Amino acid sequence: MRRLVLLLTLSAASLAQADDASLGRDIYKDFCASCHGRDLVSTGLAFDLRKFPQNDVARFQKSVLDGTAKGMPPWKSQLSEQDVKALWDYVKSGG
Ligand code: HEC
Repeated sequence: MRRLVLLLTLSAASLAQADDASLGRDIYKDFCASCHGRDLVSTGLAFDLRKFPQNDVARFQKSVLDGTAKGMPPWKSQLSEQDVKALWDYVKSGG
């Protein structure tokens, strides 16, 4: 019985993860793909997000919310922290 509960808990957790990544994919398509490329595959126009360091969520949040001096626009006024978290899950999923 205990094993069953554990299994259920685990699958609920992985479902939540999958949902966040797919929400992130939708946001990415709307806001990011025009520069960063379809499915995270850079066309050379902007940073290839598949190469972004996966242990640096703080840099990801800051770059996305505040933009960068090298041409990445700030998204603070359009995206919530939850949106950025979903984007991060999507970027970590590899596309
Ligand atoms: C108008 C074009 C454009 C759009 C749209 C855009 N970016 Fe960028 N982005 C850039 C450019 C150009 C760079 C490279 C500049 C740099 O290295 O700072 C960049 C760099 C980045 C970086 C790396 C910054 C770092 O810390 O090195 C991240 C992360 C990023 N973008 C995420 C996103 C996300 C997520 C979205 C959608 C919400 C997005 N970008 C939308 C142009 C864009």
